Amino acid sequence: MTGILILSVISCNYSNAKEDKNNNSKNSVNMKFEKVALPYATDALEPVISKQTVELHYGKHHQAYVDNLNKLVVDTKFANADLETVVKESDGAIFNNAGQIYNHNLYFTSFKKGGSGEPQGALADAINAQYGSFDKFKEEFNAAGTSLFGSGWVWLAKDASGKLSIEKESNAGNPITKGLTPILGFDVWEHSYYLDYQNRRADHLKELWKIIDWDVVSARY
Ligand SMILES: [Fe+2]
Repeated sequence: MTGILILSVISCNYSNAKEDKNNNSKNSVNMKFEKVALPYATDALEPVISKQTVELHYGKHHQAYVDNLNKLVVDTKFANADLETVVKESDGAIFNNAGQIYNHNLYFTSFKKGGSGEPQGALADAINAQYGSFDKFKEEFNAAGTSLFGSGWVWLAKDASGKLSIEKESNAGNPITKGLTPILGFDVWEHSYYLDYQNRRADHLKELWKIIDWDVVSARY
């Protein structure tokens, strides 16, 4: 299962250009960018994230970003670019939709039914070294997500030396625009939690730790 999940992320985030060459569909509006396959059933994350929220968030919001970007890149310099390049080099509506595809592909592949405990291996060592303990890291991460004004994302990212950082990004922001590698991202747009938690964003963030797939997330470090 781990291999499948990792391959899904790699495939969706880094190989759009390759897929484009393979299927020779550069002029097909609906074929270029795709959302990652959901690696679990839509009710698998309950009660932390309800089936209804997954269906709307993944099925409607995420799909809308994909549909929008496929239309927006037609006849632009990004028509044949891979998704990561688009995120790094675009702005305006193209960036907003490309960023959200990238972000949601990472987000939806960070979970599994029942979760898998705690970070592993080198990621666990780095978290303990920098934050003191996994619990202290979670406190800092949750505080960042709770205090982020408006819509956006809170990220765990690493730099080229492996140093970790917690990054607060508004709207479609992603650490890759700063030269960092995203490890884990929590979506703090209201569409990700409002049906289940209403205005209680902090409660939602605390619950998310119960469903993290640390096999997948640790492998990103
Ligand atoms: Fe979202």
